[in-house]
Amino acid sequence: MQKIVVDKIEEQKNDLSKKFNKAKQKLYIETYGCQMNVADSELVVSILNKEGFAYTENIEDADLILINTCSIRENAEKRIFNRLEQLKHLKKKNKSMLIGIIGCMAERLKEKLLEEEKLVDIVVGPDAYRDLPKLVKSAESGQQAINVLLSREETYAEISPIRLDKNGVSAYVSIMRGCDNMCAYCVVPFTRGRERSRDPKSILNEVNELIEQNYKEVTLLGQNVDKYNWNSGEVNFANLLEMTAKLNSKLRVRFSTSYPQDMTDEVIKTIAKFGNICNYIHLPVQSGSTRILDLMKRGYTRDWYMNRISTIKKYIPDCAISSDFITGFCTETEEDHKDTLSIMEWVGFDYAYMFKYSERPNTYAAKKLEDDIPEEIKSRRLNEIIELQHQLSLESNKKDIGKTFEVLVEGVSKKSENRLYGRSPQYKIVVFERKNYNIGDFVNVKVTDCTSATLKGESI
Ligand code: SAH
Ligand code: SF4
Ligand code: F3S
Repeated sequence: MQKIVVDKIEEQKNDLSKKFNKAKQKLYIETYGCQMNVADSELVVSILNKEGFAYTENIEDADLILINTCSIRENAEKRIFNRLEQLKHLKKKNKSMLIGIIGCMAERLKEKLLEEEKLVDIVVGPDAYRDLPKLVKSAESGQQAINVLLSREETYAEISPIRLDKNGVSAYVSIMRGCDNMCAYCVVPFTRGRERSRDPKSILNEVNELIEQNYKEVTLLGQNVDKYNWNSGEVNFANLLEMTAKLNSKLRVRFSTSYPQDMTDEVIKTIAKFGNICNYIHLPVQSGSTRILDLMKRGYTRDWYMNRISTIKKYIPDCAISSDFITGFCTETEEDHKDTLSIMEWVGFDYAYMFKYSERPNTYAAKKLEDDIPEEIKSRRLNEIIELQHQLSLESNKKDIGKTFEVLVEGVSKKSENRLYGRSPQYKIVVFERKNYNIGDFVNVKVTDCTSATLKGESI
């Protein structure tokens, strides 16, 4: 079905492209979901820019609005449907304006989006962005335009993203796409397709370009960076980290997301070895109960996770660690929930992202397990882990009082023009007096005070 639509578009390509190139059209893009979507939006802007689209930050000016979407939880999708409602008035004012849904929701809902959302003209999945110019042209002529084909090879390796960040300090670099883990609750393997790694040469080229443009920090992105594997083991994630770190000792290197089962000692030792690889690991545990981890098909036990943490602390004593948690997964008992609270205390996470379980259609859990934990219990457990994490973050931050960190300045504090904010290598936000410092500077800051969310200090 999708193929037929794409083929039709091919036929009209020539005459439409003539019409299209006359005017410089304006593209507005809105991004939801994870960091990978942020990186993808920058790719999409680059792809359309080559076809004559100028990027605008003003939605009212746009000829084409793209919404880069997320399907991870039901709420993520609800938010996007609400946003589409809000866009109706724009379309009323400007009938020729096109609206496209791209990203994970496009992949999950496919032609349903065109059928049910009269507002939507274009639907494009995460592996079909090269087709966007063609699909836009087709939509211009009043045709429905959709391509949601997933690919085993596409990594957009040679496309140079157009950076959309405001500060020019920190950039995302995608090193792989897709995910093969098939965690029982997760929609990502369905929306992003099979796992594949990007050519390390193109990754290093992109990082070098960023260094030339004076970027100070890169974050290497993948759903499970520990599975990075180029040419059957020729380059693994530890090798890639090392090659990136060696490009420039001043460049800060970050990465996300690490996966407990696959994170090797070699990766941990590489982080320890290079001063410019930041001592911060986002290592989502999801649950502290081995029984639940097994049901989630995460492939590791509570003990295995604790062993990874012990190894990290052994080689990188000042490493900050954050996690994701899901409360109320199928059959979760009070006992399982207590296991989650106790592993949180044992690790002493510096930060965490916490969610209620949301059943996603077609996943293993949706097909085989009952979403049997009542909403009130999910909420109560979520509140308990949020409360505990709040205390743990505060404790972690209090331990930093008196210590000095190198802070990379990202911007001016929203609360006061006289203060700057940036991040320590441990990814903590640090606020301090502006003096003569600028965005992009590395500043040594001695921590004098904190909340659970922020460190406050003085430059030295
Ligand atoms: N690849 C990463 C996570 C990507 S999704 C990893 O495996 O760690 C980000 C987070 O969303 C997950 O870590 C999980 O905590 C949460 N999440 C994913 N699916 C979910 C669902 N169905 N319900 C609630 N939270 C979910
Ligand atoms: Fe989803 Fe698991 Fe893949 Fe993370 S590793 S994206 S949770 S399937
Ligand atoms: Fe959401 Fe897709 Fe990322 S589902 S979390 S945008 S990979």
